[in-house]
Amino acid sequence: MNMQLVPCIEQYWEFVRLLRSDPRTSSGFIQQVQITSEQQRKYMSAHAHQYFICLVDGTPVGFVGSVDDDIRVCTHPDFQRRGIGSFMVTELMKIIPSGVAKVKTDNEASNALFLANGFVPTFTIYERQRR
Ligand SMILES: CC(C)(COP(=O)(O)OP(=O)(O)OC[C@H]1O[C@@H](n2cnc3c(N)ncnc32)[C@H](O)[C@@H]1OP(=O)(O)O)[C@@H](O)C(=O)NCCC(=O)NCCS
Repeated sequence: MNMQLVPCIEQYWEFVRLLRSDPRTSSGFIQQVQITSEQQRKYMSAHAHQYFICLVDGTPVGFVGSVDDDIRVCTHPDFQRRGIGSFMVTELMKIIPSGVAKVKTDNEASNALFLANGFVPTFTIYERQRR
């Protein structure tokens, strides 16, 4: 597979928004948010330089970013489990080496991704269960 990590130029902002909002991926993130195109435009105007897009044969298949040392990563469901997440994290760490990943305990895929790429768990956050 011909994978390439490229800067998150404006033509990919909507791709990031739609992938982040996709019900198949959004449950993996700690925050469940619905973002409008306008909100995304505003956010990306400030942070796009901290995001990167993975292209496979020129087609966007995932994004990775590190904002305030907080890593976020997502692979399109049609392309998961083919090494794209590992590729994105590895390449990101070459560009922004200092970030950490905050991963939900039950996010099996994300836990596996970071463990496979040299990360180790260091903190546990306890939340009071809602009754
Ligand atoms: C987490 C995510 C980015 C992984 O992307 P991916 O492209 O499928 O990852 P890879 O194919 O590179 O796999 C990386 C490792 O994780 C493992 N893995 C991936 N998905 C897995 C799953 N569902 N269950 C168990 N292991 C999994 C792979 O086997 C691989 O391990 P290995 O190198 O030891 O074989 C992807 O599942 C995703 O986008 N999830 C939704 C969004 C999300 O949860 N983002 C993370 C928020 S912190």
